[in-house]
Amino acid sequence: MNTLSDTRVNELFSEFFGSQPQALVKAPGRVNLIGEHTDYNGGFVLPVAINYHTYIALRPRADRNLRLVAWNFANAEALVPLTEEQIPDLQHGWSNYVRGVVQQLRRAGFQLAGGDLYIAGDLPAGAGLSSSASLEMAVIRALLALSGETIDPTQAALLGQAAENQFVGCNCGIMDQLISACGQARSALLIDCQDLSTRAVTMPDDWEMLIVHSGIKRGLVGSEYNQRRQQCEQAATHFGHTSLRALDLTRLLAAEGTLDDLSFRRARHVLTENARTLAAAAALASGDLRTLVRAMAESHASMRDDFNITTPAIDYLVQLIADAGAGRAGVRMTGGGFGGCVIALAPAVVIPQLMQAVTNRYEQETGFKPTLIPAKASAGAFNQ
Ligand code: GLA
Repeated sequence: MNTLSDTRVNELFSEFFGSQPQALVKAPGRVNLIGEHTDYNGGFVLPVAINYHTYIALRPRADRNLRLVAWNFANAEALVPLTEEQIPDLQHGWSNYVRGVVQQLRRAGFQLAGGDLYIAGDLPAGAGLSSSASLEMAVIRALLALSGETIDPTQAALLGQAAENQFVGCNCGIMDQLISACGQARSALLIDCQDLSTRAVTMPDDWEMLIVHSGIKRGLVGSEYNQRRQQCEQAATHFGHTSLRALDLTRLLAAEGTLDDLSFRRARHVLTENARTLAAAAALASGDLRTLVRAMAESHASMRDDFNITTPAIDYLVQLIADAGAGRAGVRMTGGGFGGCVIALAPAVVIPQLMQAVTNRYEQETGFKPTLIPAKASAGAFNQ
């Protein structure tokens, strides 16, 4: 699956600019094992940085501009002046992630220097594997490499999130940027999104991850995502809280019928998902496959029935993999929802039968073409 490497991106830079780059940086995408739509509710998430990246090869320039070249868009180019006031580029939408990050870094007081940036990624776009967060983290690393400054990884994640919220217009939480910045090889990261503390959870050596792209691009994600966020805020407000993290599950369940059904179900998903995420992290740490399989299955059912973010084809894919694993594969939809990917976690010996089932049945049954993406837990952008 990996189409790129450090060497290949250095070569691509040289072919384009006619000389060697001065440095190469990269930031990984992510897959979330469990803890969905909990980050913006101050809850728990358990993502993994994966071995698919956005790479940037770079060299300094004498002026105060960034010249960007995007390999994923047939070497399309954009020029970004290093000023605080950035203007969105409607023609090169991808460059807005860079513009947003430049704006945030400048506002935070960083002195930036000009450079030529060759940007290339092997994360499938629109798959829900955080290609945008990885681009933001790679850009921050590239710009600091040019200016010789350093940054705290958590601050880098917060600036990336602010760029996406304020400049690109997606109201995302902190999970994607934080795991792209702080991920660790062979581990998942349990993040408490209330105080942004993290704990690495090492995966058993003989377990492997299989990501399956459902073939469904996440069309509705922007509007539906922002709507879910509002519904959660509304539910918290009903109980006099600013965040659902402050709400106790017993209190919510006792209040059923006193708030509208939609708010009740949204809140029930978030609170039960927090509990499942903590249980799954403990199960991963101790190699307790049975608990992990159950937590992932319940998470998927909750996303389907309470949060309403799955699709029939994705539900079918999850069931197909669960059946093929015969109780030995944890599986659920991962990411914002309405398409994108499914994550399966199982002992390595079980993975081939999961792949076989998807290849034999999924397209025939749903009409969508699946992509199998074997993945390994990798180091974050600031951990390499
Ligand atoms: C997207 C957002 C994240 C998170 C997930 C859902 O990936 O960017 O912040 O909310 O959806 O868990």
